[in-house]
Order: sequence, then structure tokens, then C-alpha cells
Amino acid sequence: MSIKHLLGLQHLSVNTITQILDTAGPMKQIISRNLKKVPTLRGKAVATVFYEPSTRTRMSFELAAKYLSADTVGLAAASSSVVKGETLIDTARTVAAMGADVIVLRHPMAGAAELMTRYTDVHIVNAGDGMHEHPTQALLDMFTILELKNTISGLKVAILGDILHSRVARSNLWGLTKLGAEVHVAGPPTLLPVGLQQLGAHVHDCPEAALEGADVVIALRLQLERQRQGLIPSLREYTRLYGLNAERLALARDDAVVLHPGPMNRGVEITADVADGSRSLIAEQVTNGVAVRMACLYLLTVGDGGREDIN
Ligand code: CP
Repeated sequence: MSIKHLLGLQHLSVNTITQILDTAGPMKQIISRNLKKVPTLRGKAVATVFYEPSTRTRMSFELAAKYLSADTVGLAAASSSVVKGETLIDTARTVAAMGADVIVLRHPMAGAAELMTRYTDVHIVNAGDGMHEHPTQALLDMFTILELKNTISGLKVAILGDILHSRVARSNLWGLTKLGAEVHVAGPPTLLPVGLQQLGAHVHDCPEAALEGADVVIALRLQLERQRQGLIPSLREYTRLYGLNAERLALARDDAVVLHPGPMNRGVEITADVADGSRSLIAEQVTNGVAVRMACLYLLTVGDGGREDIN
């Protein structure tokens, strides 16, 4: 792969996105086996450095590294020397000095992963930086869609909910439009950032317009921890006006599938019957997250050296 770091989908070429998605297929076969281990990354070390909570991303990167026989180490900022005042750059240098080949970083600041690339020589993977990007989530979403639909080009994808705070929405917007999908976003006007049209999205302030004839529906978590006063009238009204329920889902195509990056606020942005229904791919997304992250770790680290030092 011609990149050293995975920071986002904005600057990733279609070729590189396709290469990751193509590699995730064989990786999924590995994790479907009884013995889920191959020696591919033996001798490599992967460090997960998380300044925000995570279940899926952190565990799946750690499992992905282990299934490829890399050594893993995890740092949760809240129980590290970060609480004594150590900076992000010093933390990166410290982890790199211990011999990590890859740092997987989640941080509340947009651009934190890119900042790390300037101060260490190791591969940096962005596992979510503020409201900016979450590239591996979008890649696993695209892989999940591809498994069911065999193509992304020409699909109508509806992304619903808290677009403003969603790094998942941004990465998906970049990736899905690059692969030829028609992306429709919908949410309360207060949760629709300006400039979405310039990124290629069709923007709606009611979910029905986005859902009409959709092939894929991505419901987003209402990021309660990032809400400022007054962005939504009340949780009950948010659910009534913007939540994904069976009645709204009926507007999508009969063969439409439902995704959610997790964690879900059940009964807020998505009803339990839709989340657990026959069209839901939410559990499959989690499985695919391991396969896609195996593909990313593999492609970033095999044949180290001689790469373009870009995104
Ligand atoms: N989708 C996602 O990033 O989930 P976690 O916060 O649990 O990693």
C-alpha cells in the first residue's frame, strides 16, 4: 500500500480504499476459522492509545493484531501518565521508543493522529479524532455493504441523525461518494453542519426524504456527551421526528439494509425492533470491523519502507 499512515478517507485514493476492502475478504475467512491465527505480523508491535472510551474499535484492533500474531499493548489515557500532564507528543514518542510499529490513536481533538505523524516514525492509524474522521469505521461499513450488495456505485445511502458530531458520517461521506454512492443525510437543522453539499451530500431536514427508495440506511448515535444546550428540543421529540423506526424504514427499498456504528441509544435514534430486525447488519459490522482492521494493519506494515509519506 502506498501510504504510511491511515488518517482519514478524505485524502485516500479509490485504489487504496479498494485495496483495503479487497484484503478484508481473506482476513474475514481467517477469523471464521476455528484456529484464527496466522503468523503474518509476527515480530510487529501494535499499541492502542485511547483518550476516549471505546469498546468496538479498541477491542477489534487488538484482536486484529493478535490474529495476525503481532504483539499488542493498550494505553487508556485516564489511567496513564496523561493524567500527570504528559503531552500527546511525549506520549507518542514514549510508545514509539518502546518499539511499537503501529500506534492506533483515538483522541477528542480533530487532527491528533496527523499531529502524531510529525513526531514519530511509526505507522499511525486514526481510530477517531474528535468530530473529524473515523476511517476504519467507514471502511468496515463499506465492506459490510459490499458483502450484501456487491457494489457501492449507484446505491442510495441515507445517513440519519447527529451528523454534526459524527466523524463516522464524515468518513462515510468521503468514502461512499468516492466509490460512487449517492449519499443523503438527514437530521435536525441544528445537527447538520454547513458545507455538507460541498462534500457531495444531498441534505434534508426530515428523514423521510432521505429514506425514500434508499438501499442502505445508516442510523447514527445521538452523541449526548457532545450536545450543547438547545441543539435538540428534547430526547422524546428527537426520537419522534428523527428516529429510525419500522414505519420510516418502510420508505426505503424492500431489500434495504440497516447499519449503526454503535454504541446505540436504543429507543432514541433507532427502535429496538429495527436494530434487532432482519434487515439489521449491526452485528455483522462488528465482525467485519475485525477483518477490516486486520487488512489495515497488514497493508500498512508489510514491506515497511519506501512508501510515500502521505495520509
Ligand atoms: N463505532 C465505534 O467507534 O464504537 P466504539 O466507540 O465502541 O469504539
